[in-house]
Formats: sequence, C-alpha cells, structure tokens
Amino acid sequence: MSSVAVPSVRRAARFYEAPLGKKVVMAVTGMILFGYVVAHLAGNLQVYSADHQQINRYAAALHNPSVAVLLWGVRAMLLLAVALHIIAALQLWNLKRIARPIGYVKKDDVPAAYAARTMIWSGSIILAFVIFHILHLTAGTVLPLEELGPNRPNVRANLIGGFQHPAVAGFYILAMLLLCLHLHHGVWSMFQSVGVSHPRYTLWLKRFSAVSALAIAFANISIPVAVLAGWLTQ
Ligand code: HEM
Repeated sequence: MSSVAVPSVRRAARFYEAPLGKKVVMAVTGMILFGYVVAHLAGNLQVYSADHQQINRYAAALHNPSVAVLLWGVRAMLLLAVALHIIAALQLWNLKRIARPIGYVKKDDVPAAYAARTMIWSGSIILAFVIFHILHLTAGTVLPLEELGPNRPNVRANLIGGFQHPAVAGFYILAMLLLCLHLHHGVWSMFQSVGVSHPRYTLWLKRFSAVSALAIAFANISIPVAVLAGWLTQ
C-alpha cells in the first residue's frame, strides 16, 4: 500500500469508529438499497403491460450472457451494501444498549426508542424476506421456475404461479408493509445523517420519506393482490 493510502485508510477507520461514521455508512448503503428497490419496482410494474411478454423480455435482457459482468458487479455491490448496512446497524444498536443498560425510557424518548426498535425488527424481517424471495424467484427452491429458454425466465408465469399461493402472497404483503415502515424512518434518518436537515426543509423531507415509502410498498403490494383477485392472469 502506498504511503499516501495508509493515512487515508487510518482516517477512514477513525471516522467509522465514531457513531457519526457508522450513521454515514448506514445512510450511503441505505441510499444504494433504496435506489435498487425503486429500479426493481419499475421492472416489476412491467407485469401490467398489455404485452404479456414485456416483463419476460426485460428479464431476458438482464440475464443476457453479454451483460453478465455488469449483473454480477451490481449483485456484488448490493451484497456489500447489505452487509455494511447490517454491521453498522448492529454496532449502533449495541452502542445504544451499552449507553443505557437499564430498560429505562424517559417519557419524551418513547417515540425515538420505538422507532429504533422497529428498525431492528423490520430490518430483520426484510432480510428474511429477501432470502426467501431469492430462493423463490431467482433460485427456484421454493417453487419450480418456468423458463422460455436458456437465460430466459418466464417471470410473468413465475409471479402469477407464486402469488396464487395465499401463504406466499401473504408473506410478500407483510414484508412490504414492514418495508414501508423501515423506509419511512430510514429515508428520514438518511437525510439527517448526511447533514440535509435545515429546518426550512424538514416538512418536505418528512413528506418525501412518507410518500416514497407508501408509494413503493403499495405499488409492490398491488402485484400479489392483483393475482389473488384474479386481475392478473396468464
Ligand atoms: C411484490 C414485490 C416484488 C416482486 C413482484 C419482485 C419480483 C422479483 C422477480 C420476478 C425477481 C427475479 C428476476 C429475474 O430473475 O430476472 C426478483 C429478484 C430479486 N428481488 Fe424482487 N420483487 C419484489 C420485491 C422485492 C423487494 C422489496 C426487494 C428488496 C428489498 C427485492 C429484491 C430482489 C433481489 C435482491 C432479487 C435478486 C436479483 C438478482 O437475481 O440479481 N424484491 N424479484
């Protein structure tokens, strides 16, 4: 390692040691994951296209071997973002626990304590959901996946077939409601951690956090609901 790189690595490590460093890591990784969730939703909504093959063509383009390096690059970045997000969250949670070892909560701390507790629980259930979701729609471990050819998943058939099982659809709906809760508080905290917190913008930042969390959750929930209601068929 060069003599210039060593001090900057040390500076970064010292910055991360402080709670603010961990919060910034959570904010940056949270921003990456939020961007992925929005892009993924835009892909999923193609299931409503009048052209039933639209979402399958989109999936085939993503799975095309000519873009494999890009796909695996994005997957590696997401995995790293998830890992850092979880490590920083657990370290911050532990720091708070050590700072207040007895379960004593001042009256005006109750909402903040409640939000922090919900973040750990909603985050854990979202992680369990993502593992289940990859086993379901990427690996085909939960239900067998249909393919139109090599590297051409029949995403439309796999979504509809999966959500026709009420237990699968129900778990997705529950996970999306928790995602809504997590994003509502998470997007707001993300702005605070990177220093976007001028009182003039507070109301708009709070509105943005609430509206984006609700819109993402309900747009995703619409898919299992549309299948269960029989509005989305093969
Ligand atoms: C009802 C909501 C959702 C639907 C219908 C859905 C649909 C899908 C489908 C069809 C795939 C497989 C795509 C393919 O093989 O090309 C997929 C993969 C994936 N989804 Fe979702 N998804 C939903 C929500 C979410 C959420 C909320 C997250 C993250 C919090 C998420 C994270 C992922 C990940 C990480 C993959 C694996 C991507 C890869 O293989 O590289 N999904 N999803």
